[in-house]
Amino acid sequence: MRAARIPGGGVQAVRWEGGPEGRLLLLDQRLLPVRFRELALEEAGAVAEAIRTMVVRGAPAIGIAAAYGAVLAAREARDRAGGRWREAAAPALERLAGARPTAVNLFWALERMGRAMDRAAAAGGDPVPALLEEARRIHAEDLEANRRMGALGAALLERPGAVLTHCNAGALATGGYGTALGVVRAGHAAGRITRVYANETRPWLQGARLTAWELAREGIPVTVLVEGAAASLLRSGRVTWVIVGADRIAANGDVANKVGTYGLAVLARRHGVGFMVVAPTATIDPQTPDGAGIPIEERDPAEVLGCAGARLAPEGVEAWNPAFDVTPAHLVDALVTERGVLRRPDREGIRRLLAAVPGNGRLLC
Ligand code: MRU
Repeated sequence: MRAARIPGGGVQAVRWEGGPEGRLLLLDQRLLPVRFRELALEEAGAVAEAIRTMVVRGAPAIGIAAAYGAVLAAREARDRAGGRWREAAAPALERLAGARPTAVNLFWALERMGRAMDRAAAAGGDPVPALLEEARRIHAEDLEANRRMGALGAALLERPGAVLTHCNAGALATGGYGTALGVVRAGHAAGRITRVYANETRPWLQGARLTAWELAREGIPVTVLVEGAAASLLRSGRVTWVIVGADRIAANGDVANKVGTYGLAVLARRHGVGFMVVAPTATIDPQTPDGAGIPIEERDPAEVLGCAGARLAPEGVEAWNPAFDVTPAHLVDALVTERGVLRRPDREGIRRLLAAVPGNGRLLC
């Protein structure tokens, strides 16, 4: 099967096929790059399960998948409960919200779909066409935000050089194009990025499997390294910026992202390398005052105790498996959003950013 592609923007991990009675197609990211398989989903419960089990991952992609999941929830409820569909959809929406705890985009998208549901219920008639339209809008807005962030982030790269990234914040993790990898795409096209170092990102290997796959198939030079090698790489002077995405940004600018990001931020500051976070404003959670309030998902210890289904650690040994960590705002040199760039983000800067007119892309320094 061939990958569905966004023109100039990489592979499409999430797409809706057909009209209101259509289905959600998710690229099964657990199998990449060995196998390319899309799952066709027609029930909201299956979408929740796909988010939980990492078929679809990456904060914006999780939000978009959940938005389409809400369309399916409403459709099932309509078919089961007729005019009482709004209340009947609630359990499926709760299941979607419970799929993963850290990426705030999931809750952001479900809240937006919830408001669309209220409007559709008040209007009467079949709610599904309007809800599909809203989910499509969320998807299209994310893609547009990615492109804006790519241009804004690439403009921060003063001289051509190599960058280091962690996990996968690319087309696969978003509506297409990518956040951190959107900056990489734009920076490479502008001749400002010569190579991408990709941390392998234990235990799911999003860097080795997904980032390396995404970049290599577009001819962007990529070198995979184990996380433990990042310190020496940053000391070597070969990297100009560390560029990462985010799963949730607190009101004071603290950033939750894939576990290992905090260590990279400390290393970058120690070695005088810039640390850039690239995320749409949908990833900012003004309700969470600081990083201490961000729920950090802890996953099955088996993911750490083995690899690719084979047990490696001795029986009886325990593992701690937080999927994310929190980087304090003071270690972030630039926060790139679709509304502009914040240098050294803090509470006041985040407040101004959220108050800025969406889409004018002005620089807030
Ligand atoms: O566990 P994952 O693969 O969902 O974690 C993904 C990340 O941490 C990404 O860096 C983040 O969601 C940003 S994706 C644009």
